[in-house]
Order: sequence, then C-alpha cells, then structure tokens
Amino acid sequence: MGKEGLLVLLNVNNINVFYGQVHALWDVSIQVHAGEIVTLIGSNGAGKSTLLKTIAGILPPKSGEILYDGDEVTHLRANKMVAKGVVLCPEGRSIFPKMTVGENLRVGAYTREKGEIEASYERVYDLFPILKDRRNQMGATLSGGEQQMLAIGRSLMSAPRLLMLDEPSLGLSPLLTEKIFELILQIRSQGVTVLIVEQNAVMGLSTADRGYVLEVGHIRYEGSSTELLHKQEVLETYLGG
Ligand SMILES: Nc1ncnc2c1ncn2[C@@H]1O[C@H](COP(=O)(O)OP(=O)(O)OP(=O)(O)O)[C@@H](O)[C@H]1O
Ligand SMILES: [Mg+2]
Repeated sequence: MGKEGLLVLLNVNNINVFYGQVHALWDVSIQVHAGEIVTLIGSNGAGKSTLLKTIAGILPPKSGEILYDGDEVTHLRANKMVAKGVVLCPEGRSIFPKMTVGENLRVGAYTREKGEIEASYERVYDLFPILKDRRNQMGATLSGGEQQMLAIGRSLMSAPRLLMLDEPSLGLSPLLTEKIFELILQIRSQGVTVLIVEQNAVMGLSTADRGYVLEVGHIRYEGSSTELLHKQEVLETYLGG
C-alpha cells in the first residue's frame, strides 16, 4: 500500500523515555499512517515494548511529543488512550486464568457503552470461532495459540483504531504464527491500523507495509518492508543471514 495521501494516524516525535536513570529510548520518531501495518523489529532489550507502552500512555516520555489523529496526546494516560482507540495487546498475553473466555473478553470492553458490547462479542467470535466454542472455559485451560487469540480478541473488544501487538507470535509454532498473521491481515481489512512488535522479523516484515529497526533505544533503519527485507545489514542481524 502506498502511503501517499494517507492520513498520519500516529506521529511520535523525538521521544526520550527513562526508567529511573536508565535512558531506554533516545529521540525516537515513528509514523503510522491510517490503514497501514507497521512492524517494529529489534533485539532483546532494544526498547520495543517501551515504545509501545509509551504510545499506549502507560509510560510517560520525558521529552518529545506524540500526536494521534492530529491531537497532542503525549501525556494522556492509558485509559484515555483506550477511549481514543489506541489499544495495546501486551507481551506475554496476560489473560486472566481463573476467568472464562467470555469474561476475559468482557474486560476488554470496559470503555464501551453497554449497547455496543454484544456486537463486539460477535465480531470477535466471527474472527476467532474457537473462542466462541470455548467461551465458558477458564482462560487457564486454553492452548498457547488460543490464549494469544483471546488476548487479541480482548483488545478488539475495546474497538481499537490503532491496535498495537507486542510479540503476538511468542512461543507459537510456525503454523500458528502464520495463522495469527493471517488474522492480523483480516483485522486490518476491517479498517484497523496495526503496529506490531515482532521477534520473527521475516514474518513481521512480510506482513507489514513498512518497518522500523530499533537498536539499543535508537531507530537504526526505517523503510518499506521490501527495502528492509533486502537490506544487507538487516538481513545479517535480524533475518538470520
Ligand atoms: N521496568 C523497568 N525498569 C528498568 N529498566 C527497564 C524496565 N523495563 C525495561 N527496562 C530496560 O529498558 C530497556 C528496553 O526494554 P524493553 O522491554 O522495551 O525491550 P524490548 O525491545 O521489548 O526487549 P524484548 O525483545 O526482550 O521484549 C532494556 O534495557 C530494559 O532492561
Ligand atoms: Mg519486549
């Protein structure tokens, strides 16, 4: 998809983020256009999750600004960001093991009007029929792949416009990983813009329109997925030669 003429939905401008004395993100800038899938790759500890959490309003940047849909949202808290449609599906899924599938999904709808919730369940169950079959089962009894679907489904219950997925393929088999990425394409086709953090750089970039490479807190490369997938330095470091 060409980005010309597309609305810039998310504009992260030179943000610096600290954990106490630890400077985790250095002048990081990224843009996401409406309708795009953008993938962020980088080694362990590069700052990928930190960037998503900062956009989600979970961590405050020390400097720089974040614009979403033209509004300055740099210091908005997470609940306000969710209400605006910016939703993070966190690393490690964090589903509630002692709640049923249906109850887990309901948690994702905390910002929604009562009347909208039924339709959201239908949308999630259409996308993930297995969750409908399992709706009265405890979260803990789901397989790893089903738990990932539940985590994504719970995010969809918040009606995201920008869905951020932190390592959706972590711990999944190649087949299930492929399935998850097919579903991500399907979610995008429903009008959701997607920002993904992915360890599996080939899968992550092949599914995306554009990508960014984060190295110890700095954006090192950016470009179309095709450019990044053919870039020698990226190939050597992240794509296994
Ligand atoms: N709560 C925290 N307190 C202090 N330092 C932290 C905290 N969380 C992360 N860091 C540090 O910030 C840096 C970036 O961490 P982050 O979790 O964003 O990396 P990541 O790219 O998501 O890595 P991974 O691929 O392992 O998930 C790391 O050096 C990490 O040790
Ligand atoms: Mg991480």
